[in-house]
This record gives sequence, structure tokens and C-alpha cells, in this order.
Amino acid sequence: MAFETLLLEITDGIARLTVNRPDKLNALNATVIRELGEAAGALDADRSVRGVILTGAGSKAFVAGADITELASQDPMAGKARSLAGQAAFRRFETMSKPVVAAVNGFALGGGCELAMACHMRLASDNAKFGQPEVKLGLGPGYGGSVRLPRLVGRGRALELLLTGATIDAQEAYRIGLVNRVVPADQLLAEAERLVRTIAENAPLAVQIVLEAVDACGGADADPAVFVCGPTSFVEAVVSLLGDAGLDPRTVRAERFG
Ligand code: COA
Repeated sequence: MAFETLLLEITDGIARLTVNRPDKLNALNATVIRELGEAAGALDADRSVRGVILTGAGSKAFVAGADITELASQDPMAGKARSLAGQAAFRRFETMSKPVVAAVNGFALGGGCELAMACHMRLASDNAKFGQPEVKLGLGPGYGGSVRLPRLVGRGRALELLLTGATIDAQEAYRIGLVNRVVPADQLLAEAERLVRTIAENAPLAVQIVLEAVDACGGADADPAVFVCGPTSFVEAVVSLLGDAGLDPRTVRAERFG
């Protein structure tokens, strides 16, 4: 498969999928999101692939979030569509029938942290940084972070990260359970490959059953539905929805709220 924004190498049954926009710190534009979903589907269907490593190009970033230039020009409905597309693409990694390991090689911010969390396991290089800074941009996490982060680190710690927008380093991410372990940057990919190959030594059906069972433990809410309104405001989204329904927002406000 050829992609515009991803690199894919498959060696002895292990796929390495790299988000390849290093000049933009691998930010997730619409093309990356679409291609990630396509790649996840193809790798899941390819029975010769026994595991997947997901990483970012360059030494600085895994993924530095949603592409801010695209966010800046979207209206609320486009924001909703962007969120739903990202949620669907990320869910394809989370529900893959073979192990997916995120090799987090630098910034994993916003959508980048969310993408790492949608993978089954996360290894971090010692220079990795994590955070959900959306709140600082007037947004909420659009790709499932508000669901997956509490599951991984607990509600209180998740809320602190989500509400402050703080960035944490790899050791802190390890301490709170966001990543499985921290390894020197120059050993990250080798460690990720070792982990995937160890799992691949086990029976594929057993691996698949365990992945399905653990996903089912996420409950009916396993498929995160989080609504991002765009960079302006939630009010704007509500006004737009009222407009779509043929209602005048000022009249509705006067009638319902005085
Ligand atoms: N979307 C689009 N472009 C991005 C981006 C993003 N999320 N993150 C980084 N870039 C681009 C920068 O615009 C810059 O492009 P340019 O060289 O054409 O101007 C390039 O990537 C390098 O980024 P830069 O900011 O110069 O690197 P830095 O080392 O000074 O800072 C970060 C690194 C990650 C701290 C900083 O880029 C940043 O804060 N990015 C936004 C993170 C974010 O808020 N993500 C969540 C979005 S919801």
C-alpha cells in the first residue's frame, strides 16, 4: 500500500507504520486521519502481519496533535465530522486483532496522545512528552482522550491533565500508568519490535481472543464519542444546530431562559 502521509514497512510479519510529516511534527491533518484508518484496516486484514508498531517520523515528535491550521478554519459541523472520522480511525487500531504498540518517540500531544492511547500498549522514549492541551485552545479532546485517559490513569489524574492542559515527561507518564515503560530513544524501536515479536510467538487466535476480551471489558462505552466544537465555542455549535433546525437562537433563548 502506498500512502501520502504514512510510511509502511513489513519485515518478517511485523509492520512498522510511521506518521510521516516531520516538518509539521507529524500533526494529524485530514489525510493522515484517513490514511491511518485505511492502514489499520489493511493491516488487520493481512494475515501475514502478526503485530504493528506505530511511531512518528523524526526524532522530535510522535504526533504533536491535530493539525492546528485545519482546526482554525473549520466550522462546528466540520469539527464534529473531523472528530468522528478520527474516532473511527483510532478505534480500528484499538480493535485490531493483532497487537499494536505505540513507540512514542517525542511529543505526543492532543490527538497524538489520543492515538497512542488507542494502541494496545505504549513504549516511550526518554525524551517523550505527553499532554492534552486542547482546553488551552478552547476545545475538548476529540479523538477519545476523555474516555481512554481516565481508563489508563484514573479519573482524578486524567482530569488534572485534561483540565490544566499540562505537559508531562516520559517518567511521569510511566509513574501514572500512561505508558508501559520508558526506554532510551535509540532503543525504542528495537524494544517495540522485541515486545511485538514476543507476543507473535503465541498462537494468533489466542492473542486475538485476549485482545477482544480486554476490549470488551471496556464496556459498551468502549467506542468513545466526544464532540469537538471547533476553535470558537460551544455556544456557536448550539446556535448552528438551532439554525439547522429552523429555530432562531434569540427566540429560543428568550422563550426558555427569559
Ligand atoms: N498542527 C500543525 N502544525 C504543527 C503542530 C500542530 N499541532 N505542531 C507543530 N506544528 C508545526 C509548527 O507550526 C512548525 O511548522 P513551521 O516550521 O512550518 O512553522 C513545525 O511544526 C515545528 O513546530 P515548532 O512549534 O516550531 O516546534 P517547537 O519545538 O518550537 O515546539 C511544540 C514544539 C510541540 C511544543 C509546539 O509545536 C506546539 O505546541 N504544537 C502544538 C501542540 C498542540 O497544541 N497540539 C494539540 C492540538 S489540538
